Amino acid sequence: MGNSDDQIQGQQKTRWNSRFAFLMAMIGSAVGLGNIWRFNYVLYSQGGGAFLIPYITAIIVMGLPFLILEYGVGYHLRDSLSNILKRIKPYLEVVGWFILLIVFLILTYYLVIVGWDVIYLALSFFKGWGADPNMFFSNNIVVGGDDLNSITSFVLPMSLITILLWIVLWYTSCKSIDRIEKIVKSLIPLLFLLMAFIVFYSLTLPGHMIGLQALFRPKWELLSDPSIWVAAFGQVLFSLSMGLSIAITYASYLPDESEITGNVVAVAFSNSFFELFTAIGVFSILGYMSLQSGLPIDQLATSGAGLSFIVFPQVFNVMGNSAYILGPVFFLCIFFAGLTSLISLFETMRNALSMKFGFTRRKSSTILTIFGLVISLVYTTGSGSFILTIADAFLNNMALILGVILQAVIFGWMYGVEKLIPAINKNSKLKVGKTWTAVIKYILPVILSLLWICEVIDVITFDDINVLIIQIIIAAILIIAPIVLTKLPAKDENSTPKID
Ligand code: PFF
Repeated sequence: MGNSDDQIQGQQKTRWNSRFAFLMAMIGSAVGLGNIWRFNYVLYSQGGGAFLIPYITAIIVMGLPFLILEYGVGYHLRDSLSNILKRIKPYLEVVGWFILLIVFLILTYYLVIVGWDVIYLALSFFKGWGADPNMFFSNNIVVGGDDLNSITSFVLPMSLITILLWIVLWYTSCKSIDRIEKIVKSLIPLLFLLMAFIVFYSLTLPGHMIGLQALFRPKWELLSDPSIWVAAFGQVLFSLSMGLSIAITYASYLPDESEITGNVVAVAFSNSFFELFTAIGVFSILGYMSLQSGLPIDQLATSGAGLSFIVFPQVFNVMGNSAYILGPVFFLCIFFAGLTSLISLFETMRNALSMKFGFTRRKSSTILTIFGLVISLVYTTGSGSFILTIADAFLNNMALILGVILQAVIFGWMYGVEKLIPAINKNSKLKVGKTWTAVIKYILPVILSLLWICEVIDVITFDDINVLIIQIIIAAILIIAPIVLTKLPAKDENSTPKID
């Protein structure tokens, strides 16, 4: 079935060909770098086994209700976020573009990190990072310092990979939803299989129990520390790709007879299963390393790029020949997880452009690719990783939470979340009602506001002028670009009828 160039503005015609395709796309969006390199460290450092209590609470209180909201909005109103908000109240369109801009800016650096992974994937076949992966990383990947002085010098291999990945993204999205379906339907099952291979292999390694004990040993006393609750809510927000309007976009392609709550539970469960499962693999491997090197786990455990691109290459160096299989499989997993998340970020912004301006898929993909590539290339300069760290903290910890609060308030109060209940319950076995409404209207805005305050205190720093300059530039983009996109005339103003 072909869906090429099939969106007419204000009326979403694109449809998933099967429930499986939709689920794989949603799981592909949720399962990303966060599941592989973020969750396990958060679990380890925020109370071990005890962390599971705030984590599960966060999923039940925030993750599931908010995802049901996003799915319900997309499925019922079948439009992009900016159009939907405009239909609620014309002046809200700018809020929609603000959130979509966050999505777009996250996409521009997330892609560069996936690019680092592509390099490591190639290197892993011959342990090309050499005897000192730490040195390799700082001399070849994050070249340059913690300032803006090297912003004009490009790290060429990184720039080339970035261009390549943008072309891949353009190609996956420019024709029809069918291409996205094909990719997620093969990559996500493969990702789960490859990760299963890593985890089961890691459990055969000597020393794996050292890692697992360190990972899960519950520190119950930390439960009274608010910071582990903040960490749990932050992790769930990030991991489920909440508030980015990805779910609104993907759910707007659902056929009429689709169920909502069952799909939400399936996606949230698969996402948590994947991150817990992966954590077992990662810490078993760290336990093996601890045994081999004599270093305690706390000197090995870390998150993000440090874990994947420094500690893991160090492990592969001591591992012998099996590293030539485990290494490529590990970096391939990060690539599959990252690519399917990138596709969802891209599709969300692309759809919004098509829905407002009536652009064909090809045209919106091309425009997005050109703008996105220009911004991504900044992250491949000598100052790139410095800017990336600041952009990540600013966008994810501050801007995104603000976006989620705004959506909870707008859909909860201004739209009237009760109106979604019939559509959500129509085909769903698990029904929502008053409790869900109360969570969206009262509980989420309060919890998220507390979370936001904690994060703002953490992120805003006036110590370093370079950091402040970058934060001001991002904030300016997040204010100016949404205003411009709102002001630009839509293809057909009548096609976004007001919602009563
Ligand atoms: N949920 C995905 C991850 O855990 O990596 C993808 C993602 C999350 C992308 C949050 C972007 C983002 F801001």
